[in-house]
Amino acid sequence: MTTRLITGGTVVNATGTTRADVLVEGERIAAIVDPDSALAASVRRGDSEIVDAAGLLVLPGGVDVHVHLQLPMTPEATSSDTFASGTTAAAWGGTTTIIDFAGQRLGSSVRDAVEARLAEAQGQCLVDYGLHLAMGDVHDQSLKDVRSIVEEGITSLKLFMAYPGAWYSDDGQILRAMQCAADTGALVMMHAENGIAIDVLRDQATALGRTTAVWHGRTRPAELEGEATYRAIQLASVAAAPLYIVHLSATEALEQVVAARDRGRNVFAETCPQYLYLSLEEHLDQPGLDGVRHICSPPLRPRGDGHHDTLWNGLRTDDLSVVSTDHCPFCDAEKRLGVDDFRLTPNGLGGIEHRLDLLHQGVVHGELSLARWVDLCSTTPARLFGLQGRKGTIAPGADADIVLYDPTVEHVLGADTHHMHIDHSAWEGIAVTGRTRTVFSRGEPVIVDRELVGRPGRGRYLQRALSEPLR
Ligand code: URP
Ligand code: ZN
Ligand code: ZN
Repeated sequence: MTTRLITGGTVVNATGTTRADVLVEGERIAAIVDPDSALAASVRRGDSEIVDAAGLLVLPGGVDVHVHLQLPMTPEATSSDTFASGTTAAAWGGTTTIIDFAGQRLGSSVRDAVEARLAEAQGQCLVDYGLHLAMGDVHDQSLKDVRSIVEEGITSLKLFMAYPGAWYSDDGQILRAMQCAADTGALVMMHAENGIAIDVLRDQATALGRTTAVWHGRTRPAELEGEATYRAIQLASVAAAPLYIVHLSATEALEQVVAARDRGRNVFAETCPQYLYLSLEEHLDQPGLDGVRHICSPPLRPRGDGHHDTLWNGLRTDDLSVVSTDHCPFCDAEKRLGVDDFRLTPNGLGGIEHRLDLLHQGVVHGELSLARWVDLCSTTPARLFGLQGRKGTIAPGADADIVLYDPTVEHVLGADTHHMHIDHSAWEGIAVTGRTRTVFSRGEPVIVDRELVGRPGRGRYLQRALSEPLR
């Protein structure tokens, strides 16, 4: 068994920072050691490999709980990162755990969806991975299947108030799925946008010839995210089920989450870097390909309406619990399908590689502490999605998923330098400070001094426990 001592760095956990050495034995963290202790000195004299982390932050590997790799979004468009390329890009960015989705489409079975997705991911991933269920057809049999897959370690399910005719569930279906979640201990994740009203606005706009990318945003107004978020919270309250709002983008939605949490409800929400950085004015309201490249749902919001500031504030105050990426990249050939009609553009942006760096700017600008950064990107997502004790913490017994992060390196994000399988970047030209230098996944080096040494296929499937904060 390989033994390593990561020495001279600053260990950052969600609870705070400390100067400490980290002893890794095999796949696990064995001890956190005072660097001046006799124990540290004796380990240094022994035959452990010594990893010099002087000047670096020693972080728990990032946990990205919302990604879509090789997702056939439409018959014409499959998201462009495979399980191999997407998890490799994740590792480059310091993320050592991802959770993707098994998608049960209308008319298909939950069991088949799970088996098919497990087979697609099997032997492909570079870092460890788990699955949620994305539920597109709630009925007696699919709810029965949910009970068994929760026991098998798929302990969260996503429902959709958007995308009528595809993934949409009506309020009755949502209530039934929430009741099932309450019984089983699963966590319901909600895509909270009022899809029925959005489709009316969309059809009215396109009938008037309003088909450019910005109309994707204008026909999905923030009020309809706020309304759906409120409705999801009330339905979850009736079902006595906990609730996790995915990809929250708008002040109106956050207000509902805050109100529910203030009432003591088990309501959590994530946002994504695109809603913190990119905007309707600067990115969606652009002609041709530039505009459609930035189509995602919920849409990028107008900076002028204050959403971005509200979300940063929510991260500070813990009204927002998690930052995930909703990584769902498409190359220009697919994005271009909607240049003349936004409805034909596959929805989604790529960002699996940049989450830690983008959120680190919150630290650089004094919005977030180092501990809060780690909490949002690693510790709380691990705890909410049943990976407590294994992922998201530098602690004895946890998997040795460890990132050595240089907080001083300045670099510029863009398609020429990223490792994601996308021929453009939603983040082109954004300058950031801080970058992953070395990454260990279960004790094994996968990136060393900015060189890839890990191989796709080594990542392990994670059967997850029930969410820690809800037990
Ligand atoms: O535009 C997005 N968000 N694409 C991925 C699918 C989803 O709704 O999360
Ligand atoms: Zn969604
Ligand atoms: Zn998504």
